[in-house]
Amino acid sequence: MDEKPLIIIENLKKYYPVRKGIRELFNTKKEFVKAVDDISLTISRGEILGLAGESGSGKTTTGEIIVRLQEKTSGEIVLDGHPIDDSSREGRKRFRREVQMIFQDPYETLNPRSTVFETIAEPLKIHGWKDKEKIYRRVWEALEIEELKPPEQYLFSYPHELSGGQRQRVAIARGIVLEPKFLVADEPVSMLDVSIRADILNLLKGLRRDMGLTMLYVSHDLSTIKYICDRIAVMYLGKIVELGPVNKVLSKPMHPYTKVLFSAVPVADPDHVKERIVIDDEVPDQINLPVGCRFIPRCPYVKDQCSSCTHELFEYAPGQFSACIYREENLTVNDDRIIDEP
Ligand SMILES: Nc1ncnc2c1ncn2[C@@H]1O[C@H](COP(=O)(O)OP(=O)(O)OP(=O)(O)O)[C@@H](O)[C@H]1O
Ligand SMILES: [Mg+2]
Repeated sequence: MDEKPLIIIENLKKYYPVRKGIRELFNTKKEFVKAVDDISLTISRGEILGLAGESGSGKTTTGEIIVRLQEKTSGEIVLDGHPIDDSSREGRKRFRREVQMIFQDPYETLNPRSTVFETIAEPLKIHGWKDKEKIYRRVWEALEIEELKPPEQYLFSYPHELSGGQRQRVAIARGIVLEPKFLVADEPVSMLDVSIRADILNLLKGLRRDMGLTMLYVSHDLSTIKYICDRIAVMYLGKIVELGPVNKVLSKPMHPYTKVLFSAVPVADPDHVKERIVIDDEVPDQINLPVGCRFIPRCPYVKDQCSSCTHELFEYAPGQFSACIYREENLTVNDDRIIDEP
């Protein structure tokens, strides 16, 4: 495997200005939602990196910035040696070919008036493919890879004639038809019936195996992350709080937020996670962030020094990083932060 990561993200930030209500109109202080706040990451070739965290933690924003559906506020993203915002004609064309995204709701991403063939052929035509037979063959291949077989059964279907799982397969076929290097999959199975989720996940795994595709897999569902990902990055209010190999992080989470998040789900290794930690599940304030660690208001292990935390990632175990200022494994829970389960 090539040692150099396919993707290098450095100090990425995305701040959204807050629209003010009439009462605050005369308050001139500019306020922002720091959706992504200074994150750095690398993704190796052929790796599937999971991005986890509660709703609003900045997962989708991160994914959309990488595929340039949104512009970053600051920071650098380099894909295979080229900055993604290379604005030369060649740079833009290369980027559009090499990076693709698939979304949660395949019905929204597919044009209801286009047949499966038109949908999958469109990226090829945009990239200058003219030979009709070649286009037809490539679409056929993509349908076979997606296990929409026999392809002739699907080629001229419209999205409303397909099941949810089949629609997501068509969306993925469109995403891979140009043989991209990198795919962002944002909650690709969360709207699908549980019975077909594993099929779609196996399909994504197959794309990595057969095409060497590198992926960012965005989800708040830890069981699917465990199933498909090599490493996991956990976000909280725009910051990466923990990063490491999936099995290590799931079996022995280091950051208090990860401990809390994982203690609530059965995928964690029962030998390692013994306590079930239930905390206030109130949605945190996205604008008035606490000084120091952003998890202070909800952390069951909080101490005075947490207000000087800078979220610097510390390597606890080989490849496993946590942003908690306390670097010991066994933190003591503050009983007053634990709430009784109903
Ligand atoms: N276009 C936008 N304008 C203003 N704020 C935005 C915009 N998009 C996202 N945000 C805010 O940025 C934060 C992060 O949103 P994001 O969609 O990245 O979260 P997420 O982790 O994907 O959540 P979910 O699990 O619900 O999909 C949220 O507070 C959201 O309200
Ligand atoms: Mg999202």
